[in-house]
Order: sequence, then structure tokens, then C-alpha cells
Amino acid sequence: KYEKTYFMPPKVTYDWVKKEQIKTPPIWCSVDLRDGNQALVEPMSLEEKLEFFQMLVNIGLKEIEVGFPAASETEYQFMRALIERDMIPEDVTVQVLTQAREHIIRRTFEAVKGAPHAVIHLYNSTSVAQREQVFRKSKEEIKEIAVQGAKLLKDLAKETEGSFTFEYSPESFSGTEVEYAVEVCNAVLDVWRPDLTKPAIINIPTTVENAIPHVFACQMEYVHKHLKYRDHVVLSLHPHNDRGCAVATAELGILAGADRIEGTLFGNGERTGNVDLVTLAMNLYSHGIDPGLDFSDMRMIRENYEKFTGMHVYERQPYAGDLVFTAFSGSHQDAIAKGMVCREESKSEKWTVPYLPIDPRDVGRKYDSDVIRINSQSGKGGVNYILKQSYGINLPKAMREEVGYLIKDVSDKAHQELSPEWIYQIFEEHYISAK
Ligand code: KIV
Ligand code: ZN
Repeated sequence: KYEKTYFMPPKVTYDWVKKEQIKTPPIWCSVDLRDGNQALVEPMSLEEKLEFFQMLVNIGLKEIEVGFPAASETEYQFMRALIERDMIPEDVTVQVLTQAREHIIRRTFEAVKGAPHAVIHLYNSTSVAQREQVFRKSKEEIKEIAVQGAKLLKDLAKETEGSFTFEYSPESFSGTEVEYAVEVCNAVLDVWRPDLTKPAIINIPTTVENAIPHVFACQMEYVHKHLKYRDHVVLSLHPHNDRGCAVATAELGILAGADRIEGTLFGNGERTGNVDLVTLAMNLYSHGIDPGLDFSDMRMIRENYEKFTGMHVYERQPYAGDLVFTAFSGSHQDAIAKGMVCREESKSEKWTVPYLPIDPRDVGRKYDSDVIRINSQSGKGGVNYILKQSYGINLPKAMREEVGYLIKDVSDKAHQELSPEWIYQIFEEHYISAK
């Protein structure tokens, strides 16, 4: 019933495998307000989109796809509001999506009139499935849709007040023959003729993720090597997460030659979502590379995201979930506590504490309340740590085991996590009031 739907390009070298690290961050583009928003049970209102936009700007995003203005009145009015209320900072570029259809492109240009600088993102679908089942058109006819769209963008940009960059996506690339997708992209580029003063963006979406990430990287190697005008083309990726591999897909895609990533906060987006920009950025950060995005107040970002999207950030969401820095188990707590002592003693800047990929404080988490938490799995080190941090009680070594067992037994019987107050109360009852 099922068989593979991706295409392996010819003559891949796998050279990118030898690259161990991403050395510089890609250009980030948030598609929260478009791909993220279009997948919500209740899409955001205009005012909510404005607030979300401001949050993205504050995080440091310089490229933001703000919507599909021809898709709804709210989308159209949102673009107008950004321009008319003068809300687009000078160093931020807004981006709008349009299908390669004349009336949609014309409406899109009406929406962006007067924008200080905007990317017009043109797409049409190129996959075998879409060509045969949805459009019932030949490869040549599908390429012609893209070329005609590209020409209209060029013409309307000349007539419209504002400054524009062009982007093209062969939508459903993941189900398209790679050589054919490149042929379509090159035909579009031949219309736009990008140069030093006028670069263009080619955006490669895994519209439905359907391959192991290294296969996608082979495809990117091919695209990177065969795109025309390559020096003046920004090669962008737009990974979706259907196989749960979007982050790996993006990282390998960058190693294979991509310059830019389109994604969303916490991976919101169609179906299983778009690639999570937070994870990608923080993965770089954990390798000592400044991603240029500020997630130091992750709690605030998470709370706003949940408020505006109605979505929930999963407890184990990398770098952001409630439990991602928490250790309940005794051996983990012990190693973390010892690691922290070594760090203080050595006064080293280097982060080597076991079990914690980064210092939780770098994303606004507290060591006391977020890391060491006590339940029936915990050990003497953790209990001592809580008594010391919260109540200034540093137990003598000889007492730690007994107190540890006393506390974890209570948790075991109660089937509950114990708060520092509860731990102190048990300790107090046994060792202070009892005397
Ligand atoms: O996932 C996708 O293919 C898209 C395109 C419109 C870029 O969102
Ligand atoms: Zn998408």
C-alpha cells in the first residue's frame, strides 16, 4: 500500500557529512503568522497577530512571513495595519505568500503597497501527485505556471510603491523529481535574473516530510550545486515535521548548502508543524554559536505563544518545556549537584555540568525550583540540596542517607512530588519538634 514518494538526485558526493558543525547561524525567517496561523483551530485576530509580530521582533527575527493577504480579509488588513501604523522596524523585512495565480498576485501587491521592504513569496505545486491528481497538467505546463507568476511579480513590483525581493517555492518539493524542481526554479530565476543588488530567494519545502534527513541533505546538495545565479540566490529551507525529523532535516540541509530557514516557535504549523526555530537556535547556542535570537526569557515567550495560538508547549519540548531541566532521580541529582560544585570551585566559564545540555538560567529558568525536584525516585543529595538552598540547612554527611529515605518514603506513600515546604515540614517534625 505504501511506498517511498521521494526522489534521490543523481551523483551525490555526501561531502557535507564531513562537516561536523554549523559554524554560522542561518538567516532565520518566522512563518508563525502564516503557516503557523493557518493551522490553528482558531486563527489569530488582527490585534493578536500584531502582538505576536511584536514579540517576534523582540526575539530578534529580521524576516517574518506575516500572512497570505489574498486568503482572507483579516490577513489583508493585517498587512495594511503593519504598514499604516508604521510598525515594521527598519531592519525587519516582512514577507507575504501568494499562489502563482494572477488575481491572487494582484491582490497581494495591493496589500503590500507602501511597505518599506517586503518579500513576495510565490509558489506553485510541482510534485507528481499534485501534477497528476490536482492539476492534471504536464511538467511543462506546471513550469509555465511558475514562469508566468514570476513575470507578473516582476511587472507589478515596478508599478507598486515600495521595495520588493522575490522568493519562489516549488511547493510539494518533497514529492517532486529533484532535477525537475531545479529546472522549474531555474526557469523562475531566468525571469528574475538576480544579481548583487537584487538577490532572490529559492525556498525548498518538505511540504510533507517523507524521507530520512540525510536523503533530504542529498537533495539539497544537488539543488545547491545546480541552481543558476547561485551567488545571488539565498537558498532557503522550509521543513515540516511529519516524520518528526524537521530539526535534523534543517541541520543537515544547512550543512549541505542552505543559507536560510523558515520555521516557527515551538514548531507550530500544518499537521505535525513546521521546524521549531527555538530548538534550532538553541542547538547552535549549546555549541557556543550565537544564533542571533534571544530566548533568555523563554517563559514569557512560551506564555504569549500559548495565549495567542491556544496551543500547549509540551513538558518535554527541547529547551522550553516545564520538565526539560528537571532531575527527579537520585543519581542524576547527585551528578548535577557535584557538577555545580566543581563549576563554582573551578570558576570556569565552560559549561560541563552532567545531564544539563545548557545552563537553565540562560533561558530564564531557576536552578532551585526547576532542576532538583523531589519525589520517590530522588536521593539524599537532592533532599540535602533542597534543605540547604531553601532553608540554609546543610545536613552532616552521616545524616543524609537517613533523611533522604525518610523524605522519599513519604513521597512514595503519598504518590506525590514534595514541595520544599513539605520537605522542611517532615524534617522539622522528625528532627526539630521531636527533640
Ligand atoms: O509547506 C509548504 O510547502 C509551504 C509553501 C507555501 C512554502 O508552506
Ligand atoms: Zn509550509
